[in-house]
Amino acid sequence: MTMRETEWRRKAKDVGQEHLFAFWDDLALDQRDMLLAQLASIDLDSVPTLVEKYVRNKPDFSPGGASIEPVNDYPNDHTNPRRAWDRAHYHALGEEMLRRGEVAAFTVAGGQGTRLGYDGPKGCYPGSAVRGRPLFECLSRWLVGAEKRYGHAVPWYIMTSPLNDEATRAFFSEHRNFGLDAANISFFQQGVVPSFDAASGRILLSDRHVIATNPDGHGGSLKALYASGALADMRGRGVRHISYFQIDNPLARAVDPVFLGLHAHAPDSSAQMSSKMVAKTEPGEKVGVFATIGGKVGVIEYSDLPGELASRRRADGSLVFNAGNVAIHALGVEFVEGLSRAGAGLPYHRAEKKVPHIDLETGRRVEPSAANGIKLETFVFDAISMCDASLVYETDRVDEFAPIKNASGSDSPQSSALLQTERAARWLESAGVRVPRKADGSPDCVLEIDPARAMRAEDLR
Ligand code: UD1
Repeated sequence: MTMRETEWRRKAKDVGQEHLFAFWDDLALDQRDMLLAQLASIDLDSVPTLVEKYVRNKPDFSPGGASIEPVNDYPNDHTNPRRAWDRAHYHALGEEMLRRGEVAAFTVAGGQGTRLGYDGPKGCYPGSAVRGRPLFECLSRWLVGAEKRYGHAVPWYIMTSPLNDEATRAFFSEHRNFGLDAANISFFQQGVVPSFDAASGRILLSDRHVIATNPDGHGGSLKALYASGALADMRGRGVRHISYFQIDNPLARAVDPVFLGLHAHAPDSSAQMSSKMVAKTEPGEKVGVFATIGGKVGVIEYSDLPGELASRRRADGSLVFNAGNVAIHALGVEFVEGLSRAGAGLPYHRAEKKVPHIDLETGRRVEPSAANGIKLETFVFDAISMCDASLVYETDRVDEFAPIKNASGSDSPQSSALLQTERAARWLESAGVRVPRKADGSPDCVLEIDPARAMRAEDLR
């Protein structure tokens, strides 16, 4: 018995996970090393708390007894009497930030295309309506455009996970970084957390010498930005704000001067974390909702929003809680650094999943037919309630939200192509181009506009 093994075995026993050594005697030397290395990479001390809080119990993320009000957003129509604001002013301020190189782009791309039936990093999936450009390329075109326009490169940080890091890097090299300078692209991996057996609270083994883990959710991006050195790199470049977006939305404006200007300069913004919203289409739409909860802005995930609140309507028929989260945020570098330094972790959310594992009695692999495991994830939007103040900006769905999540139906490649076409048609029409439309008003064509050429309708005139 090596000393290292004794220590780890004791540590595992102390936290109720001694079974991780169940197959030790049968393991080859390199397998033993792998197991010990994996144990060293996991925060074992936190395991008893995780088990108690999230496996044996189900934390409640519903608003509960807290007062809950709609958010006071900046409306998309800046002339809206509810709250008129000076769009041109914030646009100019945001452009100045881009000219000075104060903005970095950040994509969370740790997920796979599983829901799409696609075996690979989601960013490699064809996303644009006409050319079928991969999602990574759709987003890269904004950065190509911004550099041309503002004379300053926007560094791009991409968070991968152990599931897709290698494949993502290879994809970028194969595509010569989509025309961007490699010196301005950084990849780093998010962390993982162990997956648990729902019944016993034991950490599952995915092989006799391998602990079953899952990526720690997009909330892990805040910790990973710090731990990977990405924040320090940003500091070195003079970056002060991060434009955050998900890989699944080909219409996301990777950098949006109006939003960045509001985030950094609006009087009611703390410049810590700001968000974009779109009006929800129906009560059951699967998007989180911004609300003022107990006096502070936050997001209630769709699965946690009580049905009564989701379907509550105003006299004019519109939904009271209509502020849909499109997962586009702006974050202050200082804010993210502060959270990480203070070790202010985000809460975990639990998901009951089928987790293949090794049976401890037989040593055989089990492919469960029903949910047997608990996977824990953190959500980036839980950081919003940690801000002193947080701003929400309404954007037009057609302009900015056409995610590709499912193989068919809503949020699919087909629905995204229709929205991309509609946006391009509106932009072209506003520039005086006649776009053929069908009797139902939808465009009778398929269109795509390259963001490197036009970042907004005005650019086409
Ligand atoms: C998400 C939001 C929802 C929002 C919607 C908008 C959550 C829990 N909910 O839903 O509030 O309205 O998007 O489209 O996020 N990712 C990682 N690492 C992880 C997990 C996810 O990088 O560990 C990335 C994925 O690559 C993807 C994004 O996060 O880009 C979204 O994750 P997903 O699980 O698909 O969230 P949704 O359920 O679609």
